[in-house]
Amino acid sequence: MSVAVSFRAAAVEDARAIAEVHVEGWRWGYRDILPATVLDTLDVDERTARWTALLTDPRPGDRRVVAVDAGGPIVGFVATGAADDDVAPPPEGAGELFAIYLRDGWQGRGLGRGLLAAARRSLAEAGFAVAVLWVFDANERARRVYEAGGWRPDGATGVHRFEGGERAVLRYELQV
Ligand SMILES: CC(C)(COP(=O)(O)OP(=O)(O)OC[C@H]1O[C@@H](n2cnc3c(N)ncnc32)[C@H](O)[C@@H]1OP(=O)(O)O)[C@@H](O)C(=O)NCCC(=O)NCCS
Repeated sequence: MSVAVSFRAAAVEDARAIAEVHVEGWRWGYRDILPATVLDTLDVDERTARWTALLTDPRPGDRRVVAVDAGGPIVGFVATGAADDDVAPPPEGAGELFAIYLRDGWQGRGLGRGLLAAARRSLAEAGFAVAVLWVFDANERARRVYEAGGWRPDGATGVHRFEGGERAVLRYELQV
């Protein structure tokens, strides 16, 4: 991992930077998975409003960790909390990894693994013994990183729907 990058808890003031990373992460990470028409409609202002609300009024167990480059900018983030899964019921009292994203150009340096380790610490610290996450079936890079971090497919499957199509998603589980 780049020694210049450190991790810290997110603050409300980070909402816009997190939204930018979120949109950028979708655009580069899902380039070969989702149509450009979907990626083009992502809106940083709209995501900023959502992240501002989430960070202002966290639910019990919510944790957000940002990866910060030495110069100041946020280059990645991970969000965890109590599982919110309406597709297939997760184990009782499970946590969930909701989102993990890096800016374009920051992948492949171990930062994904670093954020994943931070997520595990967050989940443990919040008292979750087991956690789940959803990932696109086709997202091979992320799935390799999750598997290296001890996450395993738990057999649950679903679909992510968007206007004009859908993509298969898989659920992974971690014994925290
Ligand atoms: C998913 C994501 C956060 C993972 O982060 P990442 O930076 O790609 O992950 P890492 O760098 O930790 O690992 C990726 C590869 O780099 C390698 N690597 C790790 N440390 C390294 C280092 N110091 N130097 C060079 N390579 C390194 C890893 O071995 C791994 O190789 P592999 O893919 O052949 O197994 C990132 O790819 C991302 O933001 N993707 C787009 C959004 C996304 O898909 N999010 C997941 C939603 S479910």
